[in-house]
Amino acid sequence: MLLPDVSIEGIDAEKSLAAKEAVDLVKDGTVVGLGTGSTVAYFIKHLAERISDGLNIKCVATSTDTKTMARKLGIKVVESIPDGIDLDVDGADEIDLHGNMIKGGGGALLREKIVASRSKKICIIVDSSKLKSAGIGKFTVPIEIFPFLRNTTVEMLEDMGGKCALRDNGAFKTDNGNHIVDCDFGIIANPKLLERKIKMIPGVAEVGIFTNLCDLIIIGEKNNVKKIEVKRSKRGIL
Ligand code: 5RP
Repeated sequence: MLLPDVSIEGIDAEKSLAAKEAVDLVKDGTVVGLGTGSTVAYFIKHLAERISDGLNIKCVATSTDTKTMARKLGIKVVESIPDGIDLDVDGADEIDLHGNMIKGGGGALLREKIVASRSKKICIIVDSSKLKSAGIGKFTVPIEIFPFLRNTTVEMLEDMGGKCALRDNGAFKTDNGNHIVDCDFGIIANPKLLERKIKMIPGVAEVGIFTNLCDLIIIGEKNNVKKIEVKRSKRGIL
């Protein structure tokens, strides 16, 4: 049995356990994608410990927050990746047993999807509350939209059946200078189809539905971890 850090308990202990397990996947001399969020923050901390013990890696960060935290802890963060990304480790707001996810609670979904789509292996680390065997959609879908004519983009999302709210009434800005609109589509019967349809709307920069972008789910469950392997289609991310 794995024991969580003594100083934390509950959901945080589960996040830390999942994160610690993911650190074991990191190999010397590789390039690692760092996601964003509180679960990834545990991963960064555990990774920094391995680096201080001699592990030599380079990382790509999916947000300014992640980059700042990683660099503070002595992790090398690069902006160009000539040889691609070997392993991406990220969190999720919801994930089903097929690896379909809702992401973007922290507003980093655009860079998270870019990094995931360039990665050879994608590992998603979550606490047990994030696994939704009956399907994703209770968490509203974050959608990054361009500022230009933003209200008309929101109207088009509402025409598709989403109940939409601009995050912080439009005051929230992503690292890319865009807005986030959080949309409730109810439980999503076909995540891939909805992802495609939303992506087709001019004005949408990226949608926080992620499909075919997960190889391994690591779930912290009380004092243990559970792993679910997911088979990805070779036909590309969509
Ligand atoms: C950020 C994300 C995060 O992965 C997601 O919000 C989960 O975060 P946390 O680990 O804090 O629950 O997609 O854009």
